[in-house]
Amino acid sequence: MNILVTGGAGFIGSHTLIELYKAGHTAVVVDNLSNSNPVALKRVAEIIGVPEIPFYKVDIRDREGLERVFAATEGAGGTPAYPKFDACIHFAGLKAVGESVEKPWEYYENNIGGTLTLVDVMRKHGCKNIIFSSSATIYGDPAEIPITENCPKGQCTNPYGWTKSMLEQVLMDIQKADPEWNVVLLRYFNPVGAHRSGRIGENPNGIPNNLMPYITQVAVGKRKELGVFGNDYNTPDGTGVRDYIHVVDLANAHVCALQAIGRRCGMGIYNIGTGHGYSVLDMVKAFVRVNGVDVPYSIKPRRAGDIATCYCDPAKAAAELGWKAQYGIDDMVRDSWNWQKNNPEGYPEVS
Ligand code: NAD
Ligand code: WQD
Repeated sequence: MNILVTGGAGFIGSHTLIELYKAGHTAVVVDNLSNSNPVALKRVAEIIGVPEIPFYKVDIRDREGLERVFAATEGAGGTPAYPKFDACIHFAGLKAVGESVEKPWEYYENNIGGTLTLVDVMRKHGCKNIIFSSSATIYGDPAEIPITENCPKGQCTNPYGWTKSMLEQVLMDIQKADPEWNVVLLRYFNPVGAHRSGRIGENPNGIPNNLMPYITQVAVGKRKELGVFGNDYNTPDGTGVRDYIHVVDLANAHVCALQAIGRRCGMGIYNIGTGHGYSVLDMVKAFVRVNGVDVPYSIKPRRAGDIATCYCDPAKAAAELGWKAQYGIDDMVRDSWNWQKNNPEGYPEVS
């Protein structure tokens, strides 16, 4: 299949491109580079062994820009530059939880406005297959652990989470109204790790919000110590428990979801996690043990909006998508560190 990958220069998108090509697909990337670097796409091409990944620096809110991308697959009288899109994997979006509290309008406008424009242009061009990056955050403080897809959606604690929850509803309604659509919502748990090569990985701007990039930046000497947000939760060691998933496993879930779309799955909703919960201190200890580097930490107050425990039951994705996580905690901490130590400053800036 030829896949439109929005947000393909980002953390999860860049890893997914590799797995797509490995599975025999091709891709065209649309990204406004608001949170990514085109060097990632160069490195993806090197890893895959192709001259380049087709790329348009286009914002998904820019209708004319998207029209240009689709036009390149239609040729307009000449030979099309690329085959028609069989599906879109839609990663593009703003994702910083704290920032979304400060800038709710920007988050709703970018994530919801952008997706509405994208979906409209897609249907006008007869492409009615989409895989959407949703998030465990839509469960709020989950009503059950492990979380199945039947768990009711909860109260999100921030506008970012609401954009995901609302967009799930938007896409479900569109699929219901027009069953020609195949819509797969993948609810990611906590993506970490990096490609084994250490050439691509997570490259946050400024102070990392998420645990794993904070750990790697402490390990590489960029930050003094990790603050562990609370050790008085009702969990085995008192620190928050999450379902960390290797980004390459997550990338492969998209390849499996494309197969489901090929089978005309209609509407599909899947948790994408390992089903194992690890605490903050489990992650720190595994990182230190596997990589032989020190990660100083101190206990800090709880972070507003955090929940104690969040991990999923991934059985539905196994049964219906044939997808199962292959990597464990040791692979995750090894590959996160391999990326950080080889790229202490992240990707080089391009002039
Ligand atoms: P990322 O920021 O690395 O990638 C997102 C990409 O989208 C970036 O390259 C950014 O430049 C681009 N983008 C943002 N707004 C755009 C717009 N209007 N037009 C075009 N491009 C735009 O984030 P990621 O971690 O790779 O996440 C990918 C998707 O998965 C996001 O939708 C995110 O919300 C979702 N998700 C991420 C996590 C996580 O913890 N990383 C968890 C659950 C869901
Ligand atoms: C994990 C654990 C923290 C940083 C977030 C989003 C969610 C999804 C994934 C996109 C928690 C603790 C963290 C630190 C710490 N993203 N922690 N010190 O909060 O589970 O999920 O990313 O959809 O929407 O909310 O991930 O990595 O921030 O935190 O102690 O410096 O690590 O308290 O227990 P979270 P996280």
